[in-house]
Amino acid sequence: MAIISSKQQPTEPDSQPKRRRESSGKSPSSPPKSDLLAPTAAVDETDKLEEGIRPQRLADYIGQKDLKTVLEIGIAAARGRGETLDHLLLYGPPGLGKTTMALILAAEMGTSCKITGAPSLERPRDIVGLLVSLKPGEILFIDEIHRLTRMAEELLYPAMEDFRLDITIGKGQSAKTRSLPLSPFTLVGATTRAGALTSPLRDRFGLIQRLHFYEPEELTVILLRTAEILKTPISREGAEEIARRSRGTPRIANRLLKRVRDYTQVKAKGEITQEVAAEALKVFNVDPLGLDWTDRRVLSVMIQNFNGGPVGIETIASASGEDVQTIEEVYEPYLMQIGFMLRTPRGRMVTPAAWKHLGY
Ligand code: ADE
Repeated sequence: MAIISSKQQPTEPDSQPKRRRESSGKSPSSPPKSDLLAPTAAVDETDKLEEGIRPQRLADYIGQKDLKTVLEIGIAAARGRGETLDHLLLYGPPGLGKTTMALILAAEMGTSCKITGAPSLERPRDIVGLLVSLKPGEILFIDEIHRLTRMAEELLYPAMEDFRLDITIGKGQSAKTRSLPLSPFTLVGATTRAGALTSPLRDRFGLIQRLHFYEPEELTVILLRTAEILKTPISREGAEEIARRSRGTPRIANRLLKRVRDYTQVKAKGEITQEVAAEALKVFNVDPLGLDWTDRRVLSVMIQNFNGGPVGIETIASASGEDVQTIEEVYEPYLMQIGFMLRTPRGRMVTPAAWKHLGY
């Protein structure tokens, strides 16, 4: 997981908290910085695509109205008092903009953001090194925070509560605890599984916010914005067609747009129309509701092998060849959102709407 840092100036530099203004050693026109600090880190294709098209400020962020309102108030209040923003836990399915929101918060607070993921913080020294490197007011984004080791979590508790690091030196009877002061910071934790967080960790977040799937109209606006950034001609109907098939998820919408752009360039020329978008997405196996091969496989295994359920998640996973976590975190949330799957105490069930959609 990459550790990047982004620094932007706040909208109102005058109301910038003193502590943070001192920490921002760059000129007001400095562009956002993005450097790779972790030697093992790799920025994959998705990250690169997303970096160029991410909204930079809250005003450019489309959708998630409630979340935006809560954050606008939190930002204004924290800046008014010259304090850091409360620690924030963002949860919801992947691709809805949790990392983007952390970067926007940094921009709005006039500070930088360090991005990492729980799997990169396995050894105590990883998290210790990260915490001591934080600058006053900085934002620390930890993705997949439910996967932190117990040791990392325990180091985080005093860090979150009192900006203090408690480290134990030595072992057994001669072990001593030392406390080191840390710079005040804001932890933004992201997870697809809020329920998997331990309660002591969850309780230390002042703000806990869920990200919801986007409406097709919101995805249409996001797609039109991305197409403009990519200099790709597209009609409104073309964007709507892609939006309808994007499973309520901006990351998927932007990915499909790139595939449709390739198809249009090679097969159709000209702008992306509704017809061309539908044709292209058929080629890429994305159906009119945005279901892909795996969604259909999971549903049809449940129908064919278990008469639609109820059936346990482990059984669905082994029968469909997918792993439990991917089904739970990636496929199931959208299938439940569109009313194709139900979770019951006796297992998962396919709804009549899904039977019909699959032609059974
Ligand atoms: N690109 C990806 N997500 C976005 C969002 N929520 N608003 C604007 N552009 C985006």
